[in-house]
Amino acid sequence: MDVWKDYQEKNKDRFLNELLELLRIPSVSAKSEHKPDMARCAEAVKQRLLDAGADKVEIYPTDGHPIVYGEKIIDAAKPTVLVYGHYDVQPAEPLELWNSGPFDPVIKDGKIFARGSCDDKGQVYMHVKALETMVQTNTLTNNIKFCIEGEEEVGSPNLGKFVSAHKDLLKADCVLISDSAMISLETPSLDVGLRGLSYIEVEVTGPNRDLHSGVYGGAVANPITILAKMIASLHDKDNHIKIPGFYDDVIEATDEERKLMAKAPFSKSEYKKDLGVKKLWGEKGYSTNERTGIRPTLELNGIWGGYTGEGAKTVLPSKAFAKISARLVPDQSSEKISKLLIDHLHKIAPDYVTVKATLHHGGEPYVTPMNSKAYKAAAKAIEATFKKAPIPVRGGGSIPICSLFEKELGTKVVLMGFGLDSDNLHSPNEKFDIANFYKGIETIPYFHKFFAEMK
Ligand code: BES
Ligand code: MN
Ligand code: MN
Repeated sequence: MDVWKDYQEKNKDRFLNELLELLRIPSVSAKSEHKPDMARCAEAVKQRLLDAGADKVEIYPTDGHPIVYGEKIIDAAKPTVLVYGHYDVQPAEPLELWNSGPFDPVIKDGKIFARGSCDDKGQVYMHVKALETMVQTNTLTNNIKFCIEGEEEVGSPNLGKFVSAHKDLLKADCVLISDSAMISLETPSLDVGLRGLSYIEVEVTGPNRDLHSGVYGGAVANPITILAKMIASLHDKDNHIKIPGFYDDVIEATDEERKLMAKAPFSKSEYKKDLGVKKLWGEKGYSTNERTGIRPTLELNGIWGGYTGEGAKTVLPSKAFAKISARLVPDQSSEKISKLLIDHLHKIAPDYVTVKATLHHGGEPYVTPMNSKAYKAAAKAIEATFKKAPIPVRGGGSIPICSLFEKELGTKVVLMGFGLDSDNLHSPNEKFDIANFYKGIETIPYFHKFFAEMK
C-alpha cells in the first residue's frame, strides 16, 4: 500500500534512531545488577507503544521482571492479533570479543551491531513502528494486543502464571511472533516449527576437598575426567544420542516432508566458511538443515571445574560441573526428557564420584499448521512485500511460550521472523540488517490486513 510506503519512507531515519535508543538500555534479564535497567526498559517499551498509538499500556510486575501489555482496540467485533516479543537480552560476555560496545549500537555496512538488535528488541520494534504506520495512515483493520516480556532469555519463569491469570486480557484470534530468522531477503521463509528444550546442570563430586595433584594424583578419581567420560558416552560414533528412550516419542518426518525441506537453498561451503569450521558434524543419515530442524540434539553449554585462572595450579579438584541441554522435536516432552537425562546421568555415574543433576528450565516443541489462517496471512504478507512466496522451514531455536499460548489461550502461533541465522544471536557482535528491520516494518501491516480479511 502506497500510504504505508510513503509514511515509512518519510520516517525511516527516526525509526532507526529510536531503535538505537532502545538498544542502549542493557536489559540483561539473567543478571540481578541489571534489575533497574529492566524496569527502565519496560518503561521505554510502554512509552513507545503509547507514542505509536496504543490506547492502553500497562506494566505488570512479576516475581521476576515486568511484562508490558498494550492494546489498540478499534472494534470488539473485529479480529484480534496478539503480538508477543521480549525486551530482555542475553548477557553480552565475553566483552573482549565485541568490536564495539554491546550497548553502544554502531552502524556498519548497513547493519546495526548491538546486543538485542535482532533478538529481540529490533524485531519487537518493527511491530511498534508497524502499529504507528497503520494508526497514522488510518488503515488499521483489526485489534492489536502486545505482550512484551522481560524474561524470555531466562526461560519465561513467570509468563505462564501471567497468561493463565489474564486469559481474557490476552484473548486473541492468533499470536504473531517475530523472534526468529528467515533464510535471506532474496529467499524469504517462514518457520513452521521450533524445537523444545530440556536444560539441566550436573555436579560431579570426588574427594571432599581440592587436593595436591602430585600427592594424591593417581590414587583418587579426578571428577573432571569422570565427567568428561560420562559426557563422551552420551553420543555414539554416528552422533546418535545413546540415552535409552531418548528418541521414543520423536515423530519421524515423512519422505515427502524431507523432500520439501531439501528445497530450501543451502550452501555447505558458505556455511562452513561463515563458521570457520573445516567439516560439519552431526547425526548420520540427516542433512544439516534436518539436524537443526527436525532432529533432537544434546549439547554441552558449559563445563568447568578445577583451576581456570591465570597461570598454572597443580590441583586435583573436588568438583566438576556441566550445563547440558537437549533440543526437542514433536512429540518429545520436555518434562519427560529432563527426567530421562537426570536419571541417566545418575545411573552412569561410577562409584568414584557422587553426581547431582538438577533441572534448569524447559519448553515444548511447537509446530505451526500451514493451513491455519494465521500462517496463510503471513505467507501472503511476505509475498506482497518480497514478491516471492516464503519457503516453510523448521527453526532450530526455542520459544517455549508458543505451546503455552496454544494450551492456555487455544490460539495458534505464527512465527514471522526477520532475522538471519548469521545475526550472531547470543554471541559477540550480534547484528540486525537495517534492510531486514525496514522489510519487517513494511510487511507486518500486510499481515494484519490479510488476517483481518480472512474468512
Ligand atoms: N529468539 C530466540 C529463539 C530462536 C532463535 C528461534 C532463532 C528461532 C531461531 C529466543 O530468544 C531464544 O534464544 N530462546 C532460547 C530458549 C530460552 C528458553 C532461553 C533458546 O532457543 O535457546
Ligand atoms: Mn528471542
Ligand atoms: Mn534469545
